[in-house]
Amino acid sequence: MPDYKIAPSILSADFARLGEEVDNVLAAGADWVHFDVMDNHYVPNLTIGPMVCKALRNHGVEAPIDVHLMVDPVDDMIRMFADAGASYITFHPEASRHVDRSLQLIHSLGCKAGLVFNPASSLDAAKYVLDKLDMILLMSVNPGFGGQKFIPATLDKLKEARKLIDDSGLDIRLEIDGGVTRDNIREIAQAGADSFVAGSAIFNQDDYAEVINAMRAELAQ
Ligand code: DX5
Ligand code: ZN
Repeated sequence: MPDYKIAPSILSADFARLGEEVDNVLAAGADWVHFDVMDNHYVPNLTIGPMVCKALRNHGVEAPIDVHLMVDPVDDMIRMFADAGASYITFHPEASRHVDRSLQLIHSLGCKAGLVFNPASSLDAAKYVLDKLDMILLMSVNPGFGGQKFIPATLDKLKEARKLIDDSGLDIRLEIDGGVTRDNIREIAQAGADSFVAGSAIFNQDDYAEVINAMRAELAQ
């Protein structure tokens, strides 16, 4: 069985109690914290920045923080999030003029790097920088909001990305983000994903452990 990772998106957490929410979801069995950064420019929403990431580290969060940048441009935010304790930093290639350089910047700051692909975008931007990727993240909704429905065409794209990764022989995680639930996670894993972001499916329930356990049970089948 692949080394599956479940990454709750704190976009759907209660921001008034964020430290407690993150503690609770990690205690419930989450592997990573998915941290959605939106700038009301690249996407039509505004969320949280590096100070909040730093505050979670200061609060005692030790789990990997998977920072998903939905900002344009990206390089200043890469520097600030690396300084704030990010583990992974992923960005959308169209938001950087120099994708290869931004990936190198992430690595030079000691973080893992990834590219994110919107539902309608092809994977072309990944092809010539595969050796600089620790993760490919496929959006299965249009970025900007939690609680949207999974776009089924992403399943074929996952298969394409899985083939690209396997053919390369490189160690690159394949993450999926948007509309992931306990009902579709198995199909998504079968299409090739090994890392799963889930926001509303986890935080909109009272018992986080129950949902995460149900997701793991689906993945184990
Ligand atoms: C959307 C974000 C997602 C989002 C997922 O732009 O990148 O991480 O929070 O939320 P759900 O799981 O509710 O679709
Ligand atoms: Zn995200």
